[in-house]
Amino acid sequence: MKKIKITAPATVANLVCGFDILGMALNDPKDEMQLTLLDEPVINIKHTDDYGLSEIPEQNVAGVALHALIEAYPKPIGFDVRIHKTIMPGSGLGSSAASSAGAVVAANKLLDGYFTNEQLVQFAMNGEKLASGVKHADNISPCIYGGVTLIRSIHPLDIIPLHSPPIFVTVVHPQIEVKTSDSRQIIRKEVALKDAIKQWGNIAGLVTGFLKEDYDLIGRSLEDVIIEPVRSILIPGFADIKKQCKEAGAMGGGISGSGPSVFMFNKDEKTANEIKNIMENVYTKLGVDFRCYVTTVNKQGVQIMTNDR
Ligand code: HSE
Repeated sequence: MKKIKITAPATVANLVCGFDILGMALNDPKDEMQLTLLDEPVINIKHTDDYGLSEIPEQNVAGVALHALIEAYPKPIGFDVRIHKTIMPGSGLGSSAASSAGAVVAANKLLDGYFTNEQLVQFAMNGEKLASGVKHADNISPCIYGGVTLIRSIHPLDIIPLHSPPIFVTVVHPQIEVKTSDSRQIIRKEVALKDAIKQWGNIAGLVTGFLKEDYDLIGRSLEDVIIEPVRSILIPGFADIKKQCKEAGAMGGGISGSGPSVFMFNKDEKTANEIKNIMENVYTKLGVDFRCYVTTVNKQGVQIMTNDR
C-alpha cells in the first residue's frame, strides 16, 4: 500500500496590509499527517492530537479537500488519513489550511503528481470554506508553494510566489480562540477611499520591499488602516505589544491572519529573541497564557518526511 508522511507549515495570512491576498509560510509550528492510498472512494480520518476536531470527512477540512480531489481523479481512489496537529485551531496561524493543504499535497504525491499546484489550491480552498465560510487562499498558497505568495485573484486563480529576504519572525499566540468566521463578520464592508489609497500604497510597498530585499520599506509598509483597527479589539495587549516591539527594533508586524496570534518581523535572530521576551512579559503581566515562536520563512511548504511505495 502506498503511504506517505508529511509536515504542513503554519502560515501568516494577510501580512498586515494584504487582507486575503498575501501570506507567508513559517518553519514552526507545523502539523504532521500520514496518508495511505486506497482503491475505493472512502475517506477515513483519525486525529492523534487533542483538539477535538471532527473525524467525519464532511465536517473535517482535510476531508472536504480530499473529497474534491477524489472527485477530480479519473479512477476510484480513497485515503486513510492520520493527522497530528500542533498548530492550534483558531490561532490565526493557518491551522485549517495546514490540514487541507497538507492532505491534498500528500495525496498528490501518492498519485505521482497528477494534479498541478493550482488545482491543489482549488481543492484545499473547500477546507477554508468549511472553516470560515469563505474561500480564501492566503494561508493555503504559501502552505503549498512555500515562502511568500501573492494571490492576485481567486476567480480565476492567479498565484504569484514572491522572493523574500531572510527574515526572523517572532510570533506570540495568546491562548484564546478567535474563529475566523467570527472575526470576518466584524469587519466593515465598506472602505473610505482615503483608507483604500493608503492600503494600496502599503501593499505595493510591501511587495516591492520583499523583491528588493529592502527591510526598511517592508517595515514601513506593515501598516493596516482597514482591518486591524477593528480586529485588534479582540486581542488583549495588542497595542502595547506592537508599540514595545517596534521601539525595541522589530521591523514591524501585526495580527497573524484573523488572530489572535501577533507576529513581528526582525532582521536578525538576536532581535527576534528580544522581541519574544517583550511579548512574553506583556502576556505574563496580563495573566494571559501564551505560546511564543521564533522562526524563519519556510521556503518549501508541505514537506515529505517518509514515502513508502
Ligand atoms: N485572510 C483571512 C482573514 C485569513 O484574515 O480572515 C484567515 O486566516
